[in-house]
Amino acid sequence: MMATLTALCFLVVCVPSTGAMFYYPSPAISLLEHILVDNWGAYASNFSAAITPCTNYVTEIGDAAPNSGRTTAAQWLRVGFHDFVTADVAAGTGGLDASIGFETFRDENKGSAFNDSFTFWRPFVNEFVPMADLVALGTVMSVNLCGGKYIPFRPGRVDATGADPTTGVPEPGSSLEETLAQFGRSGFNQADSIGLTACGHTMGSAHHSGFPEVSDNSTLSANNTNGGINFDTSRGAFDPLVVHEYIDGTGNRGGPLVTSFNETSRSDLRLYESDGNATMEELYAQGDGFQDTCVELLSRMLNTVPAQVVLQDAIQPVAIKPVNVTWDIIDEKQLVLSGKIRILDTEAETGRNVTISFSNGYSEVVKVENATGVSIFGVTQYAPFSIDGSKITDASSFTVLTDGLETAAFDIQDRAFIVPGLTEITGNTVFVTIAADANRDDFDASKLTVRVATPITQPLTLGPRMAFSDVQLEAAGGSLGDVRYWSGVVVVDQPVGAVSVRLSYGEEPLDIMLLDAGVAGW
Ligand code: HEM
Ligand SMILES: *[C@@H]1O[C@H](CO)[C@@H](O)[C@H](O)[C@H]1NC(C)=O
Ligand SMILES: *[C@@H]1O[C@H](CO)[C@@H](O)[C@H](O)[C@H]1NC(C)=O
Ligand SMILES: *[C@@H]1O[C@H](CO)[C@@H](O)[C@H](O)[C@H]1NC(C)=O
Ligand SMILES: *[C@@H]1O[C@H](CO)[C@@H](O)[C@H](O)[C@H]1NC(C)=O
Ligand SMILES: *[C@@H]1O[C@H](CO)[C@@H](O)[C@H](O)[C@H]1NC(C)=O
Ligand SMILES: *[C@@H]1O[C@H](CO)[C@@H](O)[C@H](O)[C@H]1NC(C)=O
Ligand SMILES: *[C@@H]1O[C@H](CO)[C@@H](O)[C@H](O)[C@H]1NC(C)=O
Ligand SMILES: *[C@@H]1O[C@H](CO)[C@@H](O)[C@H](O)[C@H]1NC(C)=O
Ligand SMILES: *[C@@H]1O[C@H](CO)[C@@H](O)[C@H](O)[C@H]1NC(C)=O
Repeated sequence: MMATLTALCFLVVCVPSTGAMFYYPSPAISLLEHILVDNWGAYASNFSAAITPCTNYVTEIGDAAPNSGRTTAAQWLRVGFHDFVTADVAAGTGGLDASIGFETFRDENKGSAFNDSFTFWRPFVNEFVPMADLVALGTVMSVNLCGGKYIPFRPGRVDATGADPTTGVPEPGSSLEETLAQFGRSGFNQADSIGLTACGHTMGSAHHSGFPEVSDNSTLSANNTNGGINFDTSRGAFDPLVVHEYIDGTGNRGGPLVTSFNETSRSDLRLYESDGNATMEELYAQGDGFQDTCVELLSRMLNTVPAQVVLQDAIQPVAIKPVNVTWDIIDEKQLVLSGKIRILDTEAETGRNVTISFSNGYSEVVKVENATGVSIFGVTQYAPFSIDGSKITDASSFTVLTDGLETAAFDIQDRAFIVPGLTEITGNTVFVTIAADANRDDFDASKLTVRVATPITQPLTLGPRMAFSDVQLEAAGGSLGDVRYWSGVVVVDQPVGAVSVRLSYGEEPLDIMLLDAGVAGW
C-alpha cells in the first residue's frame, strides 16, 4: 500500500505505540485463548496469577490473604455454579450469563466469592470478552490448572442486563426435594446433581464467616481468619479425594456439609445418601475417571445458556498465533507490518527460526526471543517481526513455517488502518487517527467509520456494560503519496477495562485496536 511516510506526528502529539492489531481468528477468540494458554512467564495473561498456587486467595480489593482460609480457585468454581443453577431449561432462561453479579444480595448467594471474583475478572471485560465467558473460563482455569482436565471452553455467552427473575440455589438447610427440584429445573437429574456437587466440593471450604450455621466458631484461628473447614484434605486440588474421604471415612469425611455440627446443614450428606450412596460409590470406583465425569458434568453446567444464545466451537490452544499484528509507522517515514508470532510447542527451541511468507512472494526468517512463557498446554516462544511495507505491497495473507509444526496461514488487509502511535486514550478522551490509501480505484472516504466501545460500571453489579460512541472523522493534513489521514476525538465515560477502537469500511471491519489493555489482554 503506502510507500514512505513522513511527518505524521504533527497531527497529534506522538504517543508510544500501543498496537493496532489484527486478531486471529477473531478478537474474542484471540483474547480468550490468551487467557487460557499464556499462564505464566513471558507475556502471560494475569488471569492465572490469582489461582497460582491453587491455594491462593486474592480479596475483593486484590490483596493476597493467605491466612483467610479462602481459596480463589474454589470461589471461581462456586461462582460458576451459582450463576448456572437458576437456569430454567424448559423456559430457556438463565444459566451462564453473569446475572449472578446482580444477585449478591440474595441470601442464597451469601459469601464473598461473587464480588471477589468479579473484581478480579472485571479488567478483562471488553467489547469482545463478556463477563459471562469469564465466569465460565474461571471454572475451566481452576479445574485445568489445579489438577483436573481441560473442559473444552466454548465462547459466545451474553451478559444479562439484570438479575435473573428465577431464584433458588441449593443451600445447606435446603431439603433434598427442594435441592433436586432446583437441579432438575437447570437440567440435572439426581445422579448428575450428586456428581456435579462432588466435582465442585473437591475444592475449597465452607466458612464460619458467611456460613456460621455450617462451620462453628471453633474454626477461627490466626491462620484461618474466616474459619474455613475444607471439603477434603487437598483444598487447592481438583482431585477425586472428596469422594474417597467420604466413602472411606478418612480425612475430612466428605467435608463440612457432610459432617457439620448442625445436622440440618448437612446438605451434602442428604444428597450423597439420597440414592443409598450408589452414585458416590460409582464415582469412587471410577478412580481417575472421576476427572472425565467432572469434565462432562461441568461442561454441561458451563454450556447451559439462555435459549437465544449460540455458543461457538470450543477454543483449542493454537500452535502458531500471530499477536499484536499491526501496520505502523516507524521514524515517521517508514510503513511496517509488525507483531510477534507466538509458538506453542511441547518444548522451547533456542534460536528457533520462524519463516513468514507473504502472498506476494516476499518472505523473511525471524528468530524467537529467549524469554519463554509457560503454559498448561506447553511452552511458548515469541518471534518478533517488523516488515518493510514496500516489500509486501498488495499481499493479502502470510504463512508461518517453523520446525515441527504445521504451516499456518493468516489474512491481512491494507485498505486502511488505525495508526497506533496516534491513537490513545488520555483521561476520558480518545484520540483516533487512521490512514488509508486514497488512490485506490474503489476508495470512498465517506465509507470509513470508527466506533469506540468502552466498558463502564453499572449499578448493582461489578460486571461492566459496554457504551458505544461513534467518532466523527475529519480529513487531517499531511498526505504523502497516496496515503491520507483522518482523525477524530471522542469523550467516553470512565473505562474499567480496555477501550476498543474499531475501524470499518462500510459494514466491513478492517482494524481493531485495544487501548491500555495492560496485562488483561492483547
Ligand atoms: C446441594 C448443592 C450445594 C450446596 C447446598 C452447596 C453449598 C455450599 C456452601 C454452603 C459452601 C460454602 C461457601 C463458603 O463458605 O464460602 C459451598 C462451597 C463451595 N461450593 Fe457448593 N454447594 C452445592 C453444590 C455445589 C456445586 C454443584 C458446585 C460446583 C460444581 C459447588 C462448588 C462449590 C465450591 C467450589 C465451594 C468452595 C468455595 C470456597 O472455598 O470459597 N457447590 N457450597
Ligand atoms: C502486545 O501489546 C501489548 C500492548 O502494547 C503489550 O502489553 C504486550 O506485551 C504485547 N504482547 C507481546 C507478545 O508482545
Ligand atoms: C496480577 O494478579 C496478581 C494476583 O491477583 C496481582 O497481585 C497483581 O497486581 C496483578 N498484576 C497486574 C499487573 O495487574
Ligand atoms: C442449623 O442449620 C439450619 C439450616 O442451615 C439453620 O437454619 C440453623 O440456624 C442452624 N443452627 C445453628 C445452631 O447454627
Ligand atoms: C464462639 O461461640 C460461643 C457460643 O456459640 C461463644 O460463647 C464464644 O464466645 C464464641 N467464641 C468466639 C471466639 O467468638
Ligand atoms: C495453622 O497453624 C497451626 C499451628 O502453626 C497449624 O497446626 C495448622 O495446620 C495451621 N492451619 C492451617 C489451615 O494452615
Ligand atoms: C453413605 O455413606 C456414608 C459415608 O460413608 C455413610 O456414613 C452412610 O451411612 C451411608 N448411607 C447409606 C444410606 O448407605
Ligand atoms: C536457523 O537458521 C540458521 C540459518 O539457516 C541456521 O544456521 C540455524 O541453525 C537455524 N537455527 C535452528 C535452531 O534451527
Ligand atoms: C539468548 O540466549 C543465547 C544462548 O543462550 C545467548 O547467547 C544470548 O545472549 C541470549 N540473548 C539475550 C538477549 O538474552
Ligand atoms: C457487590 O458489588 C455490587 C456492585 O458494587 C454491590 O451493589 C453489591 O452490594 C455487592 N455485594 C456484596 C454482597 O457486597
